[in-house]
Amino acid sequence: MVLHQGKADRPGRVGGTNPLYGGANPALAASLVPPHDRLSDDPLPPDTALQLVRDELMLDGNARLNLATFVTTWMEPQARELMAECVDKNMIDKDEYPQTAELERRCVNILADLWHAPDPADIMGCSTTGSSEACMLAGMALKRRWSKLGRTGKPNLVMGVNVQVCWEKFCEYWEVEPRLVPMEGDRYHLSAEEAVARCDENTIGVVAILGSTFDGSYEPVAEIAAALDELAGRTGWDIPMHVDGASGAMVAPFLDPDLVWDFRLPRVASINTSGHKYGLVYPGVGWVVWRDQAALPAELVFNVNYLGGDMPTFALNFSRPGAEVAAQYYTFVRLGREGFRAVQQASRDVALHLSSGIAELGPFSLLTRGDQLPVFAFTTRPDAGFDVFDVSRRLRERGWLVPAYTFPENRTDLAVLRIVVRNGFTHDLADLLLADLQRLLPDLEEFGGHPKDTAKATAFHH
Ligand SMILES: Cc1ncc(COP(=O)(O)O)c(C=O)c1O
Repeated sequence: MVLHQGKADRPGRVGGTNPLYGGANPALAASLVPPHDRLSDDPLPPDTALQLVRDELMLDGNARLNLATFVTTWMEPQARELMAECVDKNMIDKDEYPQTAELERRCVNILADLWHAPDPADIMGCSTTGSSEACMLAGMALKRRWSKLGRTGKPNLVMGVNVQVCWEKFCEYWEVEPRLVPMEGDRYHLSAEEAVARCDENTIGVVAILGSTFDGSYEPVAEIAAALDELAGRTGWDIPMHVDGASGAMVAPFLDPDLVWDFRLPRVASINTSGHKYGLVYPGVGWVVWRDQAALPAELVFNVNYLGGDMPTFALNFSRPGAEVAAQYYTFVRLGREGFRAVQQASRDVALHLSSGIAELGPFSLLTRGDQLPVFAFTTRPDAGFDVFDVSRRLRERGWLVPAYTFPENRTDLAVLRIVVRNGFTHDLADLLLADLQRLLPDLEEFGGHPKDTAKATAFHH
Protein backbone atom coordinates (compact mmCIF):
# COMPACT_ATOMS: atom_id res chain seq x y z
CA MET A 1 0.00 0.00 0.00
CA VAL A 2 1.15 3.50 -0.75
CA LEU A 3 1.21 5.38 2.49
CA HIS A 4 -0.93 8.43 1.76
CA GLN A 5 -0.10 11.68 3.40
CA GLY A 6 -3.03 13.99 4.10
CA LYS A 7 -3.33 16.66 1.43
CA ALA A 8 -6.38 18.79 0.67
CA ASP A 9 -6.87 19.04 -3.07
CA ARG A 10 -9.09 21.15 -5.26
CA PRO A 11 -11.02 22.95 -2.53
CA GLY A 12 -14.19 24.84 -3.28
CA ARG A 13 -15.34 23.17 -6.53
CA VAL A 14 -19.09 22.51 -6.78
CA GLY A 15 -21.51 20.70 -9.07
CA GLY A 16 -21.15 20.51 -12.82
CA THR A 17 -22.35 16.91 -13.13
CA ASN A 18 -24.80 15.66 -15.73
CA PRO A 19 -28.17 16.59 -14.16
CA LEU A 20 -29.53 13.13 -14.95
CA TYR A 21 -27.00 11.51 -12.59
CA GLY A 22 -29.29 12.73 -9.84
CA GLY A 23 -32.02 10.35 -11.05
CA ALA A 24 -35.45 11.77 -10.23
CA ASN A 25 -33.83 14.75 -8.58
CA PRO A 26 -31.93 16.92 -11.08
CA ALA A 27 -31.22 19.44 -8.33
CA LEU A 28 -29.16 16.76 -6.61
CA ALA A 29 -26.80 16.56 -9.58
CA ALA A 30 -26.08 20.25 -9.36
CA SER A 31 -24.59 19.72 -5.94
CA LEU A 32 -22.72 16.49 -6.68
CA VAL A 33 -19.08 16.62 -5.67
CA PRO A 34 -17.35 13.32 -4.93
CA PRO A 35 -15.81 13.78 -1.47
CA HIS A 36 -12.04 14.18 -1.47
CA ASP A 37 -11.19 14.96 2.10
CA ARG A 38 -14.29 14.70 4.24
CA LEU A 39 -17.53 12.75 4.10
CA SER A 40 -20.46 14.53 2.48
CA ASP A 41 -23.29 15.39 4.81
CA ASP A 42 -25.94 13.35 3.00
CA PRO A 43 -26.13 9.96 1.31
CA LEU A 44 -26.51 9.52 -2.45
CA PRO A 45 -28.66 7.00 -4.30
CA PRO A 46 -26.59 3.88 -5.08
CA ASP A 47 -26.73 4.32 -8.88
CA THR A 48 -25.50 7.88 -8.58
CA ALA A 49 -22.66 6.85 -6.28
CA LEU A 50 -21.74 4.03 -8.67
CA GLN A 51 -21.67 6.39 -11.64
CA LEU A 52 -19.47 8.90 -9.84
CA VAL A 53 -16.91 6.30 -8.74
CA ARG A 54 -16.90 4.62 -12.16
CA ASP A 55 -16.27 7.95 -13.84
CA GLU A 56 -13.15 8.46 -11.75
CA LEU A 57 -11.85 4.95 -12.37
CA MET A 58 -11.85 5.56 -16.13
CA LEU A 59 -8.49 7.19 -15.54
CA ASP A 60 -6.88 3.86 -14.65
CA GLY A 61 -5.00 2.04 -17.39
CA ASN A 62 -6.53 -1.01 -19.08
CA ALA A 63 -5.46 -3.96 -16.89
CA ARG A 64 -5.07 -6.41 -19.79
CA LEU A 65 -2.74 -4.07 -21.65
CA ASN A 66 -0.65 -3.77 -18.50
CA LEU A 67 2.40 -5.79 -19.51
CA ALA A 68 4.19 -4.68 -16.34
CA THR A 69 2.24 -6.79 -13.91
CA PHE A 70 2.66 -10.48 -13.10
CA VAL A 71 -0.80 -10.51 -11.59
CA THR A 72 -3.78 -12.15 -13.28
CA THR A 73 -5.91 -9.73 -15.26
CA TRP A 74 -8.33 -12.17 -16.86
CA MET A 75 -10.41 -15.00 -15.46
CA GLU A 76 -13.40 -16.81 -16.84
CA PRO A 77 -16.84 -15.36 -16.05
CA GLN A 78 -17.61 -18.49 -14.00
CA ALA A 79 -14.68 -17.67 -11.71
CA ARG A 80 -15.93 -14.11 -11.28
CA GLU A 81 -19.35 -15.48 -10.43
CA LEU A 82 -17.89 -17.80 -7.80
CA MET A 83 -15.80 -14.98 -6.33
CA ALA A 84 -18.84 -12.71 -6.14
CA GLU A 85 -20.66 -15.47 -4.25
CA CYS A 86 -17.82 -15.71 -1.72
CA VAL A 87 -16.94 -12.05 -1.10
CA ASP A 88 -18.82 -12.05 2.18
CA LYS A 89 -16.88 -14.96 3.66
CA ASN A 90 -14.02 -14.21 6.00
CA MET A 91 -11.21 -16.72 5.59
CA ILE A 92 -10.41 -16.61 9.30
CA ASP A 93 -13.87 -17.81 10.39
CA LYS A 94 -12.95 -21.45 10.01
CA ASP A 95 -15.79 -22.47 12.28
CA GLU A 96 -18.44 -20.63 10.29
CA TYR A 97 -17.05 -21.48 6.86
CA PRO A 98 -15.55 -24.93 7.32
CA GLN A 99 -15.82 -25.77 3.64
CA THR A 100 -13.76 -22.75 2.60
CA ALA A 101 -11.16 -23.94 5.13
CA GLU A 102 -11.35 -27.38 3.54
CA LEU A 103 -10.76 -25.91 0.06
CA GLU A 104 -7.71 -24.08 1.43
CA ARG A 105 -6.41 -27.36 2.89
CA ARG A 106 -6.90 -29.12 -0.45
CA CYS A 107 -5.07 -26.34 -2.31
CA VAL A 108 -2.09 -26.65 0.09
CA ASN A 109 -1.99 -30.41 -0.48
CA ILE A 110 -2.22 -30.02 -4.24
CA LEU A 111 0.70 -27.56 -4.21
CA ALA A 112 2.78 -29.78 -1.91
CA ASP A 113 2.20 -32.63 -4.35
CA LEU A 114 3.09 -30.49 -7.36
CA TRP A 115 6.30 -29.50 -5.58
CA HIS A 116 7.18 -33.11 -4.69
CA ALA A 117 6.92 -32.94 -0.90
CA PRO A 118 8.50 -36.19 0.32
CA ASP A 119 5.83 -36.96 2.91
CA PRO A 120 2.43 -35.38 2.16
CA ALA A 121 1.26 -36.16 5.71
CA ASP A 122 4.09 -34.14 7.25
CA ILE A 123 3.88 -30.87 5.28
CA MET A 124 2.69 -27.55 6.68
CA GLY A 125 1.23 -24.79 4.53
CA CYS A 126 -1.28 -21.99 4.30
CA SER A 127 -2.78 -19.38 2.05
CA THR A 128 -1.73 -15.74 2.36
CA THR A 129 -2.60 -12.44 0.74
CA GLY A 130 0.20 -12.92 -1.77
CA SER A 131 3.84 -13.89 -2.06
CA SER A 132 4.99 -10.99 0.08
CA GLU A 133 3.16 -12.29 3.15
CA ALA A 134 4.20 -15.84 2.25
CA CYS A 135 7.86 -14.75 2.10
CA MET A 136 7.55 -12.97 5.47
CA LEU A 137 6.24 -16.19 7.03
CA ALA A 138 8.94 -18.31 5.42
CA GLY A 139 11.62 -15.83 6.50
CA MET A 140 10.29 -15.83 10.07
CA ALA A 141 10.48 -19.63 10.15
CA LEU A 142 14.09 -19.49 8.92
CA LYS A 143 15.00 -16.90 11.53
CA ARG A 144 13.35 -18.77 14.40
CA ARG A 145 15.00 -22.02 13.34
CA TRP A 146 18.38 -20.30 13.34
CA SER A 147 17.80 -18.60 16.72
CA LYS A 148 17.18 -22.01 18.29
CA LEU A 149 20.74 -22.98 17.36
CA GLY A 150 21.92 -20.60 20.09
CA ARG A 151 24.34 -18.63 17.89
CA THR A 152 25.19 -15.16 19.08
CA GLY A 153 25.86 -12.95 16.02
CA LYS A 154 23.42 -10.93 13.93
CA PRO A 155 21.37 -13.13 11.61
CA ASN A 156 21.79 -12.68 7.86
CA LEU A 157 19.97 -13.83 4.75
CA VAL A 158 21.81 -14.48 1.49
CA MET A 159 20.11 -13.72 -1.84
CA GLY A 160 20.65 -12.03 -5.19
CA VAL A 161 20.30 -8.26 -5.52
CA ASN A 162 17.49 -9.08 -7.96
CA VAL A 163 15.16 -10.24 -5.17
CA GLN A 164 11.73 -8.70 -5.04
CA VAL A 165 11.39 -5.87 -2.53
CA CYS A 166 9.46 -8.12 -0.10
CA TRP A 167 12.80 -9.70 0.95
CA GLU A 168 14.34 -6.34 1.70
CA LYS A 169 11.23 -5.55 3.73
CA PHE A 170 11.54 -8.84 5.57
CA CYS A 171 15.12 -8.04 6.53
CA GLU A 172 14.24 -4.52 7.65
CA TYR A 173 11.16 -5.49 9.64
CA TRP A 174 12.67 -8.56 11.31
CA GLU A 175 16.16 -7.17 11.78
CA VAL A 176 18.06 -9.54 9.59
CA GLU A 177 21.11 -8.40 7.63
CA PRO A 178 20.44 -8.72 3.89
CA ARG A 179 23.47 -10.11 2.08
CA LEU A 180 22.72 -9.20 -1.50
CA VAL A 181 24.86 -10.68 -4.25
CA PRO A 182 25.31 -8.01 -6.94
CA MET A 183 24.93 -8.65 -10.65
CA GLU A 184 28.14 -9.02 -12.65
CA GLY A 185 28.49 -8.68 -16.43
CA ASP A 186 25.90 -10.94 -18.04
CA ARG A 187 25.01 -12.64 -14.74
CA TYR A 188 21.73 -11.06 -13.73
CA HIS A 189 20.87 -13.36 -10.83
CA LEU A 190 22.33 -15.41 -7.99
CA SER A 191 25.02 -18.02 -8.60
CA ALA A 192 25.92 -20.92 -6.32
CA GLU A 193 29.49 -19.74 -5.92
CA GLU A 194 28.55 -16.17 -4.96
CA ALA A 195 25.83 -17.36 -2.57
CA VAL A 196 28.05 -19.73 -0.65
CA ALA A 197 30.84 -17.18 -0.43
CA ARG A 198 28.53 -14.96 1.67
CA CYS A 199 27.30 -17.63 4.09
CA ASP A 200 28.51 -18.04 7.65
CA GLU A 201 27.23 -19.58 10.87
CA ASN A 202 24.67 -16.77 11.25
CA THR A 203 23.10 -17.26 7.84
CA ILE A 204 19.45 -18.13 8.46
CA GLY A 205 18.93 -19.24 4.88
CA VAL A 206 19.56 -18.68 1.20
CA VAL A 207 16.71 -17.45 -0.99
CA ALA A 208 16.67 -18.61 -4.59
CA ILE A 209 14.13 -17.17 -7.00
CA LEU A 210 12.34 -19.28 -9.52
CA GLY A 211 11.65 -16.59 -11.98
CA SER A 212 13.56 -13.37 -11.38
CA THR A 213 11.34 -10.33 -11.36
CA PHE A 214 13.93 -8.44 -13.39
CA ASP A 215 14.17 -10.68 -16.43
CA GLY A 216 12.11 -13.86 -15.91
CA SER A 217 15.15 -16.13 -15.59
CA TYR A 218 15.25 -19.09 -13.20
CA GLU A 219 18.01 -19.08 -10.58
CA PRO A 220 20.08 -22.29 -10.40
CA VAL A 221 18.34 -23.75 -7.35
CA ALA A 222 19.87 -27.24 -7.59
CA GLU A 223 23.40 -25.84 -8.00
CA ILE A 224 22.95 -23.59 -4.98
CA ALA A 225 21.61 -26.54 -2.95
CA ALA A 226 24.59 -28.69 -3.96
CA ALA A 227 27.02 -25.93 -2.99
CA LEU A 228 25.30 -25.59 0.40
CA ASP A 229 25.52 -29.37 0.88
CA GLU A 230 29.22 -29.14 0.25
CA LEU A 231 29.52 -26.20 2.65
CA ALA A 232 27.64 -28.14 5.34
CA GLY A 233 30.02 -31.06 4.91
CA ARG A 234 33.00 -28.75 5.25
CA THR A 235 31.87 -26.47 8.09
CA GLY A 236 28.88 -28.05 9.78
CA TRP A 237 26.68 -25.03 8.87
CA ASP A 238 23.43 -26.63 7.80
CA ILE A 239 21.84 -23.70 5.94
CA PRO A 240 18.31 -24.21 4.59
CA MET A 241 16.98 -22.75 1.35
CA HIS A 242 13.74 -21.03 0.60
CA VAL A 243 12.57 -20.97 -3.01
CA ASP A 244 10.67 -17.83 -3.93
CA GLY A 245 8.53 -19.31 -6.67
CA ALA A 246 6.15 -16.32 -6.79
CA SER A 247 5.76 -16.94 -10.51
CA GLY A 248 7.86 -19.97 -11.42
CA ALA A 249 6.43 -22.41 -8.90
CA MET A 250 3.27 -22.44 -10.99
CA VAL A 251 5.09 -22.59 -14.32
CA ALA A 252 7.98 -25.05 -13.89
CA PRO A 253 5.87 -28.01 -12.62
CA PHE A 254 3.90 -27.92 -15.87
CA LEU A 255 6.43 -26.80 -18.46
CA ASP A 256 9.78 -27.95 -17.04
CA PRO A 257 8.97 -31.17 -15.15
CA ASP A 258 12.58 -32.35 -15.34
CA LEU A 259 14.01 -29.24 -13.75
CA VAL A 260 14.81 -30.14 -10.14
CA TRP A 261 14.18 -27.05 -8.02
CA ASP A 262 11.63 -28.06 -5.39
CA PHE A 263 11.29 -30.41 -2.38
CA ARG A 264 13.14 -33.07 -4.38
CA LEU A 265 16.15 -31.16 -3.06
CA PRO A 266 16.38 -31.98 0.66
CA ARG A 267 17.89 -28.56 1.34
CA VAL A 268 14.71 -26.77 0.22
CA ALA A 269 12.80 -26.08 3.44
CA SER A 270 9.97 -23.98 2.06
CA ILE A 271 8.45 -22.66 -1.16
CA ASN A 272 6.05 -19.81 -1.85
CA THR A 273 3.97 -18.86 -4.84
CA SER A 274 1.46 -16.18 -5.76
CA GLY A 275 -1.89 -17.77 -6.54
CA HIS A 276 -2.64 -14.48 -8.24
CA LYS A 277 0.25 -14.72 -10.70
CA TYR A 278 0.66 -17.93 -12.71
CA GLY A 279 -1.77 -19.57 -10.27
CA LEU A 280 -4.21 -17.71 -12.54
CA VAL A 281 -6.39 -16.08 -9.85
CA TYR A 282 -7.33 -12.40 -9.49
CA PRO A 283 -5.25 -10.43 -6.92
CA GLY A 284 -5.29 -11.41 -3.27
CA VAL A 285 -3.90 -14.92 -2.81
CA GLY A 286 -0.50 -16.48 -2.17
CA TRP A 287 0.72 -19.76 -0.73
CA VAL A 288 3.61 -21.05 1.33
CA VAL A 289 4.44 -24.69 2.04
CA TRP A 290 7.09 -26.15 4.38
CA ARG A 291 8.56 -29.52 3.50
CA ASP A 292 7.90 -30.93 6.98
CA GLN A 293 6.89 -29.89 10.46
CA ALA A 294 10.51 -29.56 11.53
CA ALA A 295 10.96 -26.69 9.04
CA LEU A 296 8.28 -24.59 10.77
CA PRO A 297 9.03 -24.05 14.48
CA ALA A 298 5.89 -24.93 16.41
CA GLU A 299 5.84 -21.77 18.53
CA LEU A 300 5.09 -19.65 15.44
CA VAL A 301 1.83 -21.50 14.92
CA PHE A 302 -1.32 -20.36 16.72
CA ASN A 303 -4.24 -22.65 17.30
CA VAL A 304 -7.76 -21.48 16.66
CA ASN A 305 -10.70 -23.48 17.87
CA TYR A 306 -12.25 -25.05 14.82
CA LEU A 307 -15.19 -27.39 14.61
CA GLY A 308 -14.64 -28.50 18.15
CA GLY A 309 -10.96 -29.15 17.48
CA ASP A 310 -7.81 -27.08 17.16
CA MET A 311 -6.84 -25.62 13.81
CA PRO A 312 -3.23 -24.43 13.51
CA THR A 313 -2.83 -21.05 11.76
CA PHE A 314 0.19 -19.01 10.74
CA ALA A 315 -0.52 -15.59 9.23
CA LEU A 316 0.24 -11.91 9.60
CA ASN A 317 -3.36 -10.94 8.89
CA PHE A 318 -6.50 -12.00 10.65
CA SER A 319 -9.53 -11.20 8.46
CA ARG A 320 -9.17 -11.91 4.75
CA PRO A 321 -11.61 -12.58 1.93
CA GLY A 322 -12.45 -16.21 1.18
CA ALA A 323 -13.21 -15.52 -2.50
CA GLU A 324 -9.61 -15.87 -3.73
CA VAL A 325 -9.13 -19.26 -2.11
CA ALA A 326 -12.38 -20.50 -3.65
CA ALA A 327 -11.18 -19.12 -6.99
CA GLN A 328 -7.82 -20.89 -6.61
CA TYR A 329 -9.58 -24.16 -5.99
CA TYR A 330 -11.77 -23.41 -9.03
CA THR A 331 -8.66 -23.11 -11.24
CA PHE A 332 -7.42 -26.47 -9.93
CA VAL A 333 -10.78 -28.16 -10.55
CA ARG A 334 -11.23 -26.47 -13.92
CA LEU A 335 -7.79 -26.96 -15.45
CA GLY A 336 -6.19 -30.03 -13.94
CA ARG A 337 -2.57 -30.70 -14.84
CA GLU A 338 -3.18 -30.72 -18.56
CA GLY A 339 -5.16 -27.47 -18.48
CA PHE A 340 -2.42 -25.71 -16.52
CA ARG A 341 0.20 -27.08 -18.90
CA ALA A 342 -1.74 -25.84 -21.93
CA VAL A 343 -2.36 -22.36 -20.50
CA GLN A 344 1.24 -21.84 -19.37
CA GLN A 345 2.58 -23.24 -22.65
CA ALA A 346 0.40 -20.79 -24.56
CA SER A 347 1.90 -17.92 -22.54
CA ARG A 348 5.43 -19.20 -23.18
CA ASP A 349 4.70 -19.55 -26.91
CA VAL A 350 3.41 -15.98 -27.08
CA ALA A 351 6.44 -14.72 -25.11
CA LEU A 352 8.85 -16.51 -27.48
CA HIS A 353 7.00 -15.24 -30.54
CA LEU A 354 7.00 -11.68 -29.23
CA SER A 355 10.64 -11.68 -28.12
CA SER A 356 11.86 -13.03 -31.45
CA GLY A 357 9.70 -10.48 -33.29
CA ILE A 358 11.23 -7.69 -31.21
CA ALA A 359 14.75 -8.99 -31.81
CA GLU A 360 14.08 -8.94 -35.57
CA LEU A 361 13.05 -5.29 -35.52
CA GLY A 362 16.75 -4.33 -35.34
CA PRO A 363 17.35 -1.69 -32.68
CA PHE A 364 16.70 -3.99 -29.73
CA SER A 365 18.70 -6.73 -28.06
CA LEU A 366 17.20 -9.37 -25.77
CA LEU A 367 18.49 -10.18 -22.29
CA THR A 368 16.06 -13.09 -21.98
CA ARG A 369 13.61 -14.71 -24.42
CA GLY A 370 10.71 -15.78 -22.22
CA ASP A 371 11.66 -19.48 -22.33
CA GLN A 372 11.65 -19.79 -18.52
CA LEU A 373 8.99 -17.53 -17.07
CA PRO A 374 6.98 -16.21 -20.02
CA VAL A 375 8.63 -12.89 -19.22
CA PHE A 376 11.49 -11.24 -21.05
CA ALA A 377 13.64 -8.15 -20.81
CA PHE A 378 15.22 -6.29 -23.70
CA THR A 379 17.20 -3.15 -24.20
CA THR A 380 18.05 -0.74 -27.01
CA ARG A 381 21.29 -1.12 -28.94
CA PRO A 382 23.85 1.61 -28.22
CA ASP A 383 23.44 3.10 -31.72
CA ALA A 384 19.63 3.03 -31.66
CA GLY A 385 19.31 6.80 -31.17
CA PHE A 386 16.64 6.41 -28.49
CA ASP A 387 16.41 4.67 -25.16
CA VAL A 388 14.08 2.29 -23.34
CA PHE A 389 12.34 5.15 -21.54
CA ASP A 390 11.46 6.72 -24.90
CA VAL A 391 9.97 3.43 -26.05
CA SER A 392 7.96 2.95 -22.87
CA ARG A 393 6.57 6.48 -23.11
CA ARG A 394 5.63 6.22 -26.77
CA LEU A 395 3.97 2.82 -26.34
CA ARG A 396 1.70 4.38 -23.73
CA GLU A 397 0.18 6.51 -26.45
CA ARG A 398 -1.48 3.32 -27.74
CA GLY A 399 -2.43 2.11 -24.26
CA TRP A 400 0.43 -0.42 -23.86
CA LEU A 401 1.95 -0.32 -20.40
CA VAL A 402 5.52 -1.62 -20.77
CA PRO A 403 7.79 -0.58 -17.91
CA ALA A 404 11.36 0.61 -18.39
CA TYR A 405 13.79 0.49 -15.49
CA THR A 406 17.47 0.37 -14.64
CA PHE A 407 19.14 -2.71 -13.21
CA PRO A 408 20.56 -2.76 -9.66
CA GLU A 409 24.07 -2.77 -8.29
CA ASN A 410 26.94 -3.41 -10.62
CA ARG A 411 24.69 -3.10 -13.68
CA THR A 412 23.07 0.26 -13.02
CA ASP A 413 24.34 1.19 -16.47
CA LEU A 414 21.77 -1.18 -17.98
CA ALA A 415 18.20 0.00 -18.59
CA VAL A 416 15.62 -2.43 -19.95
CA LEU A 417 12.01 -2.88 -20.96
CA ARG A 418 10.20 -5.90 -19.56
CA ILE A 419 7.17 -7.70 -20.90
CA VAL A 420 5.16 -10.14 -18.77
CA VAL A 421 3.01 -12.45 -20.88
CA ARG A 422 0.01 -13.78 -18.97
CA ASN A 423 -3.07 -15.85 -19.55
CA GLY A 424 -5.28 -13.76 -21.83
CA PHE A 425 -2.42 -12.11 -23.74
CA THR A 426 -3.01 -13.68 -27.13
CA HIS A 427 -0.88 -14.12 -30.24
CA ASP A 428 -3.13 -11.55 -31.84
CA LEU A 429 -2.44 -8.96 -29.14
CA ALA A 430 1.26 -9.76 -29.41
CA ASP A 431 1.13 -9.05 -33.16
CA LEU A 432 -0.69 -5.79 -32.52
CA LEU A 433 2.05 -4.78 -30.07
CA LEU A 434 4.75 -5.72 -32.58
CA ALA A 435 3.00 -3.71 -35.30
CA ASP A 436 2.77 -0.69 -32.99
CA LEU A 437 6.45 -0.95 -32.08
CA GLN A 438 7.39 -1.20 -35.75
CA ARG A 439 5.22 1.79 -36.62
CA LEU A 440 6.92 3.87 -33.90
CA LEU A 441 10.46 3.03 -34.98
CA PRO A 442 11.00 5.63 -37.75
CA ASP A 443 9.80 8.35 -35.40
CA LEU A 444 11.91 7.07 -32.51
CA GLU A 445 14.96 6.77 -34.74
CA GLU A 446 14.55 10.26 -36.11
CA PHE A 447 13.61 12.18 -33.00
CA GLY A 448 14.35 9.96 -30.02
CA GLY A 449 11.29 9.78 -27.82
CA HIS A 450 9.93 13.17 -28.78
CA PRO A 451 7.80 13.59 -31.90
CA LYS A 452 9.18 16.81 -33.42
CA ASP A 453 6.92 16.78 -36.45
CA THR A 454 3.97 18.79 -35.12
CA ALA A 455 1.80 17.73 -38.04
CA LYS A 456 2.29 14.13 -36.96
CA ALA A 457 2.14 14.92 -33.28
CA THR A 458 -1.22 16.59 -33.55
CA ALA A 459 -2.63 14.45 -36.37
CA PHE A 460 -6.30 14.05 -35.56
CA HIS A 461 -8.59 12.95 -38.37
CA HIS A 462 -12.31 12.45 -38.25
C1 LIG B 1 9.99 -13.20 -7.14
C2 LIG B 1 8.88 -12.44 -6.45
N1 LIG B 1 8.72 -12.57 -5.12
C3 LIG B 1 7.74 -11.95 -4.45
C4 LIG B 1 6.86 -11.11 -5.13
C5 LIG B 1 5.76 -10.43 -4.35
O1 LIG B 1 4.55 -11.03 -4.73
P1 LIG B 1 3.10 -10.54 -4.31
O2 LIG B 1 2.77 -9.42 -5.24
O3 LIG B 1 2.25 -11.74 -4.54
O4 LIG B 1 3.12 -10.12 -2.89
C6 LIG B 1 6.98 -10.94 -6.51
C7 LIG B 1 6.09 -10.04 -7.25
O5 LIG B 1 6.27 -9.73 -8.40
C8 LIG B 1 8.02 -11.63 -7.20
O6 LIG B 1 8.17 -11.52 -8.52
